[in-house]
Amino acid sequence: MRLTAASPALAEPIDERVASVVHEGLTAVPKRLPPWLFYDAEGSRLFEAITALPEYYLTRTERGILAAHGPAMMAQAAAGGARLRIAELGAGSAEKTRLLLRAAVERQGEVMYAPIDVSASALDAARRRIEREIPGVHVTPLVMDYTHSNGRGLELAPGPDGERMLVLYIGSSIGNFEPNESRRLLRRLRVGMKPGDSLLLGVDLVKDGALLLAAYNDATGVTEAFNKNLLARLNRELGCAFDPNAFAHRAVWNEAEARIEIYLESRVAQRVRLAALDLDVEFAEGETIHTENSYKYRPGQAETMLAEAGFRPAGAWSDARGWFSVHLAEAE
Ligand code: TRP
Repeated sequence: MRLTAASPALAEPIDERVASVVHEGLTAVPKRLPPWLFYDAEGSRLFEAITALPEYYLTRTERGILAAHGPAMMAQAAAGGARLRIAELGAGSAEKTRLLLRAAVERQGEVMYAPIDVSASALDAARRRIEREIPGVHVTPLVMDYTHSNGRGLELAPGPDGERMLVLYIGSSIGNFEPNESRRLLRRLRVGMKPGDSLLLGVDLVKDGALLLAAYNDATGVTEAFNKNLLARLNRELGCAFDPNAFAHRAVWNEAEARIEIYLESRVAQRVRLAALDLDVEFAEGETIHTENSYKYRPGQAETMLAEAGFRPAGAWSDARGWFSVHLAEAE
């Protein structure tokens, strides 16, 4: 069976970065698309819905760890009585961060907070909400794509001498990078930090495959909608003719690589027109587009990765079931 559909006229000018990764990914063998494409306005909204799903234990578990141990984390990062300022990679709505900001304000009265994200609108909403809810936090958002290296260290917000920087990288977002990329990111982070500064890193842990799979394939289909929104986005932005119903959401637990793999699988043999790219893409029945990996960590692995990047372990906290862990590491 072959499906084709007329492409709608494009209302907006096309984003060249989107156009080029889509061209590259859908002409590659096997086909793939990068996970940052998930997060347009609709994708961000669907991801927030994922974080509230009963099956998606990650957000809830990490929030519990931060709620229970936030004050101890801040005390350890400020060991010796230093004042902290806080930066956060991929802050998004900064929902869990508020637990840590409250703990910092309790300790030192006021704190500077620099959330970093590609989404200016998410940062602006987070800033207004935080300044309203937690007096004492001064928010200076940085719109930046920290995932793309410019060959130098990551330039984080400078602060007054004598303050130590605490960089937050929570939510297990590091698991969405390939191991060599996550090592490179940690090294770039380290280069932008001074000895005594620290990093708080959240990682999801290897656990029973059925629990992992359920988190990426929920019963009500929110995750499926999130994955398929990628195709809807390409229809909207590049005038593509994808029929999202002609693709299935697939999540696979690859135990050897310790990662969840996410795919869109063509239900039929089809050819899809990508108008803005002047390209037709053929799919065999069952052919997949790889849209994301989510690496899970084994005990000790986060510490090793951090040590390789120049960080010394300064504390680790987990939940009672050992599903998720949060690591504090000091720049040496
Ligand atoms: N970064 C999230 C994670 O790895 C993103 C995510 C959650 C996701 N559910 C998904 C990505 C389903 C693709 C499909 O946990």
